[in-house]
Amino acid sequence: MPLDQTSYDELPYTCNAMPYAQPERLATVATLIGMTPPPVQSCRVLELACCDGSNIIATAHNLPEAECWGVDFSAQHIANGRKLIKALGLQNITLKQMNILEIDDRFGTFDYIIAHGIYSWVSSQVQEKILSICKNHLATNGVAYISYNTKPGWRTTLREMMLYHIANDSAGRTIQLKKLLKFFTQATADAKDSYGRFLHEDLNHFNQLPASFIFEEFIDEENEPLYFYQFMERAQAYGLEYLGDALFPGATNDVHQEQMMDFLHNRHFRHTCLCHHRAV
Ligand SMILES: C[S@@+](CC[C@H](N)C(=O)[O-])C[C@H]1O[C@@H](n2cnc3c(N)ncnc32)[C@H](O)[C@@H]1O
Repeated sequence: MPLDQTSYDELPYTCNAMPYAQPERLATVATLIGMTPPPVQSCRVLELACCDGSNIIATAHNLPEAECWGVDFSAQHIANGRKLIKALGLQNITLKQMNILEIDDRFGTFDYIIAHGIYSWVSSQVQEKILSICKNHLATNGVAYISYNTKPGWRTTLREMMLYHIANDSAGRTIQLKKLLKFFTQATADAKDSYGRFLHEDLNHFNQLPASFIFEEFIDEENEPLYFYQFMERAQAYGLEYLGDALFPGATNDVHQEQMMDFLHNRHFRHTCLCHHRAV
């Protein structure tokens, strides 16, 4: 079953402010590549699937002259975010409870568009919409950020193991998954072979994360890791070009070279910054 609005209301996701998904970082990546991005202090920013606003609220707080917008379809997430905005007394941020699919021309253009932790877990229709929002709502020299799970490193084996385990017991699946992770983490603790050690490190990492993260990361029916070059083919179809990675700004903006590095490093996640074709 795909995760919908109700799933998130029932098991709210734990969100955080992310330094790599902030306008300052995106502007830095763009500047390093030779582009002149919009001034950060007074920028207009949109965060898609903003959860409870933890990230975009931090933006609004740090950049009091910026105009910040966050969109998420979970009523619970948006209500939590609005409470925090009120407590902080912020006037430069709006959180809207709505489906990304409903974003239209009334939103206008944004200097920075951020979509973290969403692209890999939604239908192809929503994926297309995210790219079309970047094409149609990004200012001429603006920067868009989209993160996604990448091959070859994304943990397909862990996902399939979990799906197999809960196939016959969907009722208590969150508890089942936590138990499974704990059991396998212990079972691989003394592994001597390279695969066992590799698996243990991953299991140990996820074993310490909240149930809502495990659930969202692995159990959503929609979950499509893809190669970086495949993501870029999709982005280029919308007239968007690769600027750099928000987490590894020292990397190149050459898609082929970056793809080869992903093979070498078994990369599992990317934080891709995009701009309009010929903006650099
Ligand atoms: C895994 S959370 C990620 C949240 C946040 N961006 C982060 O990375 O911490 C996914 C979020 O996307 C929201 N979401 C999923 N599909 C959506 C859609 N079609 N429209 C709006 N929000 C959506 C969920 O409500 C949830 O808050």
